[in-house]
Amino acid sequence: MTDRSAIQFPDGFLWGAATASYQIEGAALEGGRGKSVWDTFSHTEGKVAKGHTGDVACDHYHRLDDDVAMMADLGLQSYRFSISWSRVMPDGRGAVNAVGLAFYQRLVDRLLEHGITPCPTLFHWDLPQGLEDIGGFRSRDTVSWFGDYAALMARELGDRVSMWSTFNEPWCYAYLGHASGRHAPGLTDPAAAVAVAHHELLAHGLALRAMRAERSGLQLGIVINPSNVRQEGTPTAPPEQVRLIDAIHNRWWFDATLRGEYPADLLASYGPLADAIQPGDLEVIAQPLDWLGINYYFDILVRGLTADDSADGWLEYPTVTGVTEAPTREVHTDMGWPITPEGFTALLVRLHTDYPNLPPIHITENGCAYDDPVVDGRCADPRRIEYLDLHLRALRDAMQQGVDVRGYYQWSLMDNFEWALGYDKRFGLVHVDFDTLERTPRDSAFWYRDVIAHNGIR
Ligand code: FCB
Repeated sequence: MTDRSAIQFPDGFLWGAATASYQIEGAALEGGRGKSVWDTFSHTEGKVAKGHTGDVACDHYHRLDDDVAMMADLGLQSYRFSISWSRVMPDGRGAVNAVGLAFYQRLVDRLLEHGITPCPTLFHWDLPQGLEDIGGFRSRDTVSWFGDYAALMARELGDRVSMWSTFNEPWCYAYLGHASGRHAPGLTDPAAAVAVAHHELLAHGLALRAMRAERSGLQLGIVINPSNVRQEGTPTAPPEQVRLIDAIHNRWWFDATLRGEYPADLLASYGPLADAIQPGDLEVIAQPLDWLGINYYFDILVRGLTADDSADGWLEYPTVTGVTEAPTREVHTDMGWPITPEGFTALLVRLHTDYPNLPPIHITENGCAYDDPVVDGRCADPRRIEYLDLHLRALRDAMQQGVDVRGYYQWSLMDNFEWALGYDKRFGLVHVDFDTLERTPRDSAFWYRDVIAHNGIR
């Protein structure tokens, strides 16, 4: 039984909610914005459920003022959003689009007027199509273009924004985008995926250098989505293969950024797949981090193969064999994800133990998809409140075990374009009617406002 007594967070703990550009902005090609890989992908038949695209999304581009006012009403102290690279640099390099920059300047100004701390991400998967056309993150050239873009943003917004992250969930962009092809740009090429996994980190390191050269005092981080990888059910997965999944999903990112090395077992397994790594790269990658963003949703549950399983392998984990996903649990969210708050605690404690130089952590995403309707102007979503309650308690447990966590962002402020799954997976504290674009805060939004007001759960 979970103990449901009151819990309190330390003074100064920062409470927020998160979104991402392509998922909410809409206004796809307005104001001089260039196309991104997600425009191309979502307009390719068969790639996104029901043919949904981000063309309109939540129309946040046109509703920025009201949306920020809504954040203030909900008591948010911080807002994590991402910048659409192709809105500010339509081709990803060269010409800068003043209209696009003005949009983010206005967003930041509105947030600050309401006392909400902005926390922008530079790359939440919407790579400018112009860069994809020259090889995207498979190419080392894109790494230096990212550095230029990061410097531009530090120059243009760094006077008002101190908290930045470079990449959001680089594992997803690399492997969902280039190994399984479930996300843009939709490739199924393991060597490309590994090159991207390396180049994203290199771009991150370069961006940190470029931003620090531009301005001092910025608080710079990166957002990773680690998960425990756990055996569940039968047959048992080979432990060394489970360890390899852990290396691809978790250790690659933390070992590189915090230790300046890639996991030896994974390099051995990848062999020539990892040819993009060049001498000196890891020094660039392992720049000091002011903070680290952790996105946590669920533990990865795995089992060994039965005679009925295809032996094709698990595309997102290229060299792993003999392992597949455990069957969906009876209780799960609309994503089919298990609910594993105990894993959240264990994961944070593990990071704290394994990486003595772990910087202060912000939980940059955590949340769940449930489709609860609006009835007479109210949207009751008890399952989301339950999920958040359990995960905040799990987080508090980790903090009590010594993990230095400074903030928490719920995913997501409002229902939005959930990538390849379109608009049917609803993660919002706020319900969005995608016909009228009307916003209706769910019960969970008011519950969360109360958590923020009391800096804990009463
Ligand atoms: C994360 C993504 C975010 C959202 C949530 C549900 O992987 O960073 O954009 O899609 O999952």
